[in-house]
Amino acid sequence: MTNRTLISQTPTLVGQTVVLQGWIASKRDHGKVTFIDLRDRSGLVQCVGFKMMGELTTESVVSLTGLVKARPEKLVNLEILTGSIEIEVQSYELLNKTAELPISIDTDGKEISEEPRLKYRYLDLRRARLQKIMRMRSEFIRAIRDSLYGKDFVEIETPMLTKSTKEGARDFLVPSRFQPGKFYALPQSPQQYKQLLMTAGFERYFQVARCIRDEDLRADRGFEFTQLDLEISFASQQEVMDLVEETVKTAVKKVGGKLKTESFPVVNYQDAISKYGADRFDLRTEEDKANGILAFAWVVNFPFFKKVDKKDIAEVRDGKSGWTFTHNPFSAPLPENEVDHLAHKNIENIVTAQYDLVCNGYEVGGGSIRAHKPELLKATFEIMGYSEEQIEDGVGHMLKAFKLGTPPHGGIALGLDRLIMLLAGEESLKETIAFPMTSSGRTAVMDGPSEAAKEQLDELSLMVKPQVKE
Ligand code: AMO
Repeated sequence: MTNRTLISQTPTLVGQTVVLQGWIASKRDHGKVTFIDLRDRSGLVQCVGFKMMGELTTESVVSLTGLVKARPEKLVNLEILTGSIEIEVQSYELLNKTAELPISIDTDGKEISEEPRLKYRYLDLRRARLQKIMRMRSEFIRAIRDSLYGKDFVEIETPMLTKSTKEGARDFLVPSRFQPGKFYALPQSPQQYKQLLMTAGFERYFQVARCIRDEDLRADRGFEFTQLDLEISFASQQEVMDLVEETVKTAVKKVGGKLKTESFPVVNYQDAISKYGADRFDLRTEEDKANGILAFAWVVNFPFFKKVDKKDIAEVRDGKSGWTFTHNPFSAPLPENEVDHLAHKNIENIVTAQYDLVCNGYEVGGGSIRAHKPELLKATFEIMGYSEEQIEDGVGHMLKAFKLGTPPHGGIALGLDRLIMLLAGEESLKETIAFPMTSSGRTAVMDGPSEAAKEQLDELSLMVKPQVKE
């Protein structure tokens, strides 16, 4: 093991010999003297070599030994943290020689089109802007974790290969080799499992959960995304909202985000529609926008059901009676609507115990108090036109658990990618995800989806219909 020094420490080590390891950010040749800027995870430093380093190409990886020297007063560079010193290189070893770069990485990258950026994502991620966002993402998630651990939450993972849980999108299916003709669904969210963890007595659960939904891609929507998912037993709607608000505020401040209001306004769904024309509204002024302010608000009192949009195949599938849920079929109606809910009456006026968190015009979270009494959940599916058999097949396991000691509970899921996007002042989720998909749903770096080999298909008892070429 070399005794490596991080670049950020070098200004305190004047007069000492150090071993530095990193990438060559830039190189300038002046005949016998070669200057390089060396970069590691902690910073950048100027290194000078006499009659050496001419062979080095930018972005090559080197290990070098050199003397830390104070720069003469007039050459001090206040722009970088190591600007008071430079490294006089004594020897170096080339650890990885870099060929000509397919994309430039010394800009913010916005001038480069999506395809090459994602094909060479490992290079794209080296640019300062993305390094900063990915590190901020990590800090933000850490702050949320710290905050929840401090409040007695347990972090628990739930399955990826599972059965469909409805969140209003199509499922991604995975064929089973052991049970030919049967498919697992990848989770659209951990909704049902987290509720079952309440039945299991954990009382306070959270997870940084990957969710997978087959829906049309947009700048603020991916097939795969990450939720901060949590659930709490024995808590009222107000208590869940207070806890979530406090957690979000703590984490936002931890990464330097600025809030418009210390307390998040609570807006009725109907008021939001009449005042802003949408349930995701932007409370910022032009000045707030210029200053990178985050304007959070809660939206409450949504209708539980809506008429099925006949153009939306997933909705048509879910809402067999012509009614479908607006947010989450596992939510409870408000207590004052329970009688109507159980009697399937006044369906258009039933209000759900749902709360959405919006920020700067985006929906960044959604949750609810759940129907933990079996008859309420059953009534939801009856209103949507499900037969006894379909209900048993779809949510029979939940109805069973709700007869075996399930406490009242509620929770929320925050869209982490969207929150990071807003914190970073970006306009696309792709800028916040290490390896996002292209706009047409192809994977970064590796070229997926790809065809399966004949043997794989045989093993899975699958046949692919011949594709009609256009
Ligand atoms: P919901 O479906 O509202 O709720 O999702 C919660 C939050 O996740 C984010 N989100 C997305 N982000 C990126 N790409 C997507 N395709 C995408 N879909 C959703 C949004 C949204 O607010 N199980 C419930 C939560 C609960 O009730 O506890 C759920 O998943 O920011």
